Amino acid sequence: MSPRLSVAARIADALRPTAFALKTAEPCTLVIFGAGGDLTRRKLVPALYHLCLDGVLPPSFAAIGVAREPLDDGSFRAAMRQALAEFAPDGGKSDVAETLCSRLFYVAGDLDAVETYAALRQRLEAVDGNGTRPAARGRLFYLAIPPSVYPDVVHHLHESGIAPQVEDPTTPAWVRVIIEKPFGNSLESARALNRVVREAFAEHQVYRIDHYLGKETVQNLLVFRFANSIFEPVWNRQHVHHVQITAAESVGVEHRGRYYEEAGVVRDMFQNHLLQLLTLTAMEPPVRFNADAVRDEKVKVLRAIRPITPPEMHDYLVRGQYGPGTTDGQPVQGYRQEPNVASDSGTATYAVARFMVDNWRWQDVPFYLRSGKRMPRRATEIAIQFRQPPHLMFQVPPGHQLEPNVLAIRVQPDEGISLRFEVKVPGVEVRMVSVDMDFGYHDAFGEAGHEAYETLLLDCMLGDATLFTRSDEVEAAWTVVDPIIDYWEHKRPDHFPNYAAGTWGPDVANEFIARMGAKWREP
Ligand code: BG6
Repeated sequence: MSPRLSVAARIADALRPTAFALKTAEPCTLVIFGAGGDLTRRKLVPALYHLCLDGVLPPSFAAIGVAREPLDDGSFRAAMRQALAEFAPDGGKSDVAETLCSRLFYVAGDLDAVETYAALRQRLEAVDGNGTRPAARGRLFYLAIPPSVYPDVVHHLHESGIAPQVEDPTTPAWVRVIIEKPFGNSLESARALNRVVREAFAEHQVYRIDHYLGKETVQNLLVFRFANSIFEPVWNRQHVHHVQITAAESVGVEHRGRYYEEAGVVRDMFQNHLLQLLTLTAMEPPVRFNADAVRDEKVKVLRAIRPITPPEMHDYLVRGQYGPGTTDGQPVQGYRQEPNVASDSGTATYAVARFMVDNWRWQDVPFYLRSGKRMPRRATEIAIQFRQPPHLMFQVPPGHQLEPNVLAIRVQPDEGISLRFEVKVPGVEVRMVSVDMDFGYHDAFGEAGHEAYETLLLDCMLGDATLFTRSDEVEAAWTVVDPIIDYWEHKRPDHFPNYAAGTWGPDVANEFIARMGAKWREP
């Protein structure tokens, strides 16, 4: 029999570096298109630094930045040192930062010019030949560039021969491409982009990013659901009344007004992040923990979402836009006053959608998805609300309702899981109160160890696409949201703005869920 350990001892044991072997990436070169952008400075280079600290990048690893700015290796390295000082939690203070920076290279050029790819080819050959046999070295191309340029870059990568189509997914000379979101801005454009990508690469070479899938708590959904046996029997229409998935942000659109005017909340948050959370919550247990088995199940959920027809839209949707208000005690402007936003903009910064998943497990169980900018605080959570007991033998005071049992998975911040249930208040009479049984990541494991981009970059180097979106998945997600976007774009709202910054959204959203016999949780 195994010795009895306290929870703390078991966690400490699990965290011991020797308790698990981290997989190390194979020798490879990463090429970042758009190396002059925010994503590279804020996320990618800090993530590479952390991977180096963890010792999972091979000594011969190299990265080549490509962008228009006329930099050389030296000035690019200096800029990345500065990025680490700003964005790595330890300010990039360890010697490892120097080692990483010495492995950074730079190619200046226009992304639509053939010469850029010729220069990149030379650089790759020089870097790839350095230390390892080029034939045994992988190449990873990261498209951290505006989506309008994706087709051009994919085309040039293919034509120049530096990123050949590789049939064998297991070859050490692998070639992979990471494509940032948004992948298209409609079903039609996503299909067109998939066609361009398919001409250049095999599907196993393509890694479409949704950074939510790299979040620790999102990955934990799989473990929570499928490594425990006690939740599965209640995870269905017999026991679940409805599901609320909320992604609330306290920030506004910041400096991204131009992008957001085109995107709006449905493209920005629903098509990708929220639908990913829905699929992971609703999917059937995959047979194996591998990319295709997991993604097959997710696609089935997306395909089971009931299409919403135009006459029914008001029964399924609510939209909103923030006006001036207060955030963290400070007055803030409304969406229409943000830079690069039209003064009569009809873009939604808040939306609620009720999705019905038409299958045996979920028939008639509403999934309420809600996201908004300028909410009172940042909070993403998945709340499974269970049905009331079929018969209550206890008396509830007049005007009171029994609180439902809720399993809440806090994705961020304050990551954790809680279960709400009723207990008896001590005393001679029978009175009830709801209490929470709570698991907090921070209490159990301390500070969060790493960020989404670290997981995603490493998985890509290891050839594990489980946390990336497959082509059919991305198209299925657009199929779900396209009719909503289309309907809203043709029906201008006449009531915007309809919620003040710093509030939980428009009143109509409360009336909407009340009509369905539920109420919003405040995450
Ligand atoms: C991005 C959206 O994909 O996700 C942003 O474009 C949003 O508008 C962000 O703020 C939210 O991500 P996170 O990780 O902060 O929840």
